[in-house]
Amino acid sequence: MSEDRVSITPLKDGPLEVKGAVRINASDGTEIKEADTVYLCRCGGSSKKPFCDGTHKKIGFTSDVEA
Ligand code: FES
Repeated sequence: MSEDRVSITPLKDGPLEVKGAVRINASDGTEIKEADTVYLCRCGGSSKKPFCDGTHKKIGFTSDVEA
């Protein structure tokens, strides 16, 4: 697999780990962040969406699906 590809990995009972050069945009196209690694909320509880803020631990988020 090429190292310049972006990889997305669901962390156990936590966020999506996105590794690779990525640009995160708002729905209007405005850039929010450029980074090599970001963690995106998948529990729905973050107050910093689309990023994980650790709330998944407080609310006991679990995921039956690892992908
Ligand atoms: S996955 Fe971490 S706050 Fe939602």
